[in-house]
Amino acid sequence: MIYKHDVLVVGAGLAGMRAAIEAHNQGVDVAIVSKVYPVRSHSNAAQGGINAALGEGDTWESHGYDTVKGSDYLGDQDAIEILAREAPAAVLELEHWGVNFSRDETGHLGTRNFGGASQARTFFVADITGQALLQVMFEQLVRVGVRMYNEWFVTRLIESEGVVRGIVGMDIRSGQLHAIQANAVVLATGGMGRVFEPSTNALINTGDGMAIAYRAGARLMDMEMMQYHPTTLKGSGALLTEGARGEGAYLLNSEGDRFMKKYAPNKLELASRDVVSRAEQTEINEGRGIENCVLLDCRHLGKDLIMRKLGQIHELALELAGVDIVQEPVPVRPGFHYPMGGIKTDVDGKTTLDGLYAAGECACVSIHGGNRLGANSLLDTVIFGRRAGAAASEHSRALPSPADSFPLGETALQQETERIRALLDRPSVGELAAKVRWDMGVNMVKHCGVFREAGGLTEMGDLLHSLQDRATRVHVGDKGRVFNTNLTSVLELQFMLDLAVAVQVTALTRTESRGAHTRTDYPERDDEHWLKHIQLQYRPEGPEIHFTPVTMTRWEPQVRSY
Ligand code: FUM
Repeated sequence: MIYKHDVLVVGAGLAGMRAAIEAHNQGVDVAIVSKVYPVRSHSNAAQGGINAALGEGDTWESHGYDTVKGSDYLGDQDAIEILAREAPAAVLELEHWGVNFSRDETGHLGTRNFGGASQARTFFVADITGQALLQVMFEQLVRVGVRMYNEWFVTRLIESEGVVRGIVGMDIRSGQLHAIQANAVVLATGGMGRVFEPSTNALINTGDGMAIAYRAGARLMDMEMMQYHPTTLKGSGALLTEGARGEGAYLLNSEGDRFMKKYAPNKLELASRDVVSRAEQTEINEGRGIENCVLLDCRHLGKDLIMRKLGQIHELALELAGVDIVQEPVPVRPGFHYPMGGIKTDVDGKTTLDGLYAAGECACVSIHGGNRLGANSLLDTVIFGRRAGAAASEHSRALPSPADSFPLGETALQQETERIRALLDRPSVGELAAKVRWDMGVNMVKHCGVFREAGGLTEMGDLLHSLQDRATRVHVGDKGRVFNTNLTSVLELQFMLDLAVAVQVTALTRTESRGAHTRTDYPERDDEHWLKHIQLQYRPEGPEIHFTPVTMTRWEPQVRSY
């Protein structure tokens, strides 16, 4: 079947829903296609809050500067200015739509401290901010009546000579492939956390949008910049929000020492994430950890505050690690959380392909540069989601012909049908996708982790070659059509391997330390040679590397300390 819309949004997390609402408001025919039912999107998992300079005495310039400093000067400052300037209106819009933000004792919107921020500007709903935003956004989507293709797995873009006009996707419930033609496609498919094991990310975060855009010819940027969150739970790697430290929790090593005073004497546990993660990993590596962890101590916050503001992490620690944070410190360690890199876009979400837009975690605008500040990601989704939805609508309106004049949908659908049939026809012997995926994930954390160096990165490059070879022999044991997650996991593996290569190649290329990219063999930041982005273009023989300048507006690089 071939469907047609003016604008198609892929992904129904916050960025995707915000883009679709904007496109609807612009008067175009817009639809959303999503791998999961929208309220199950990973935006659900964002805990701590959303930043905006709304408080008395706060300014967008201060938010902008903190973000630039947090990015270790790799963020593009034109985009960061937009983020900081538009934040107050975006948060108020959410509040007016019905988000029940936590209030302070005077009844006004409350704020909490967050890492790398010079003042408390994080608005929050206890420690379920993402979930609260997602539900309200979904209500808006239903209110305006956007068509949704839920539980569809997008396998590729419909693209020819740099022009994108839709997608091919599988309705997971029936196993049937379809094409959706559109004048503009907005990718809002979220992160790629499952390229790493363990990770704070949902199992659905396999980087699908980034990988299909990359294969179609869009550029990826800043892929060496991968964020490790300082407080992920021992074992499962579940996120324990930075909001805990924002409320006053602190970190201890095996000697009971509040070690952050050595690494960030002014901001302590509220330094930026790269700084805190490096400090923890150093304590662990130097023998002052406890079973590869340090301790997050919340006890002094008291039961009342913990249950009111940190109820979800109380439950997570209790259920997943058997630790009651009211009574005892909880073991945590740096864990994979967020890619600063992604599909290169301009400030309106436009990628390097005609008709293709991207927003949210899959995109790289680049506002996060070398290191994202906590609570800037929810903000990123709503601001750049809205902008991408507007720009895609404008693009669609300017086209002289409707989507159905572009004849490639049928060909792409046929090609995909044959490709998937060939996958299903592979004999049920050989490699298991889960095994290849696991070998990739644990080794990515080992070699592309908080600390990296040439030897390990080169070893990872060799390993990725052999994993790619093994992936060609992966079989799909389940030959059925209905909800064949065995098949989708094989398709996801192919996406993830492309992205793993992108991370490894760029991490080996950048011979300096900046933000979350710490090379033990090049420990200093080197502005003279490396104040630039690395972009990648897909080539079958391996990524082609390009360098592009960082956009500076008003903030000159300075020595970065917290
Ligand atoms: O720690 C957290 O609540 C995570 C927030 C974020 O990644 O922005």
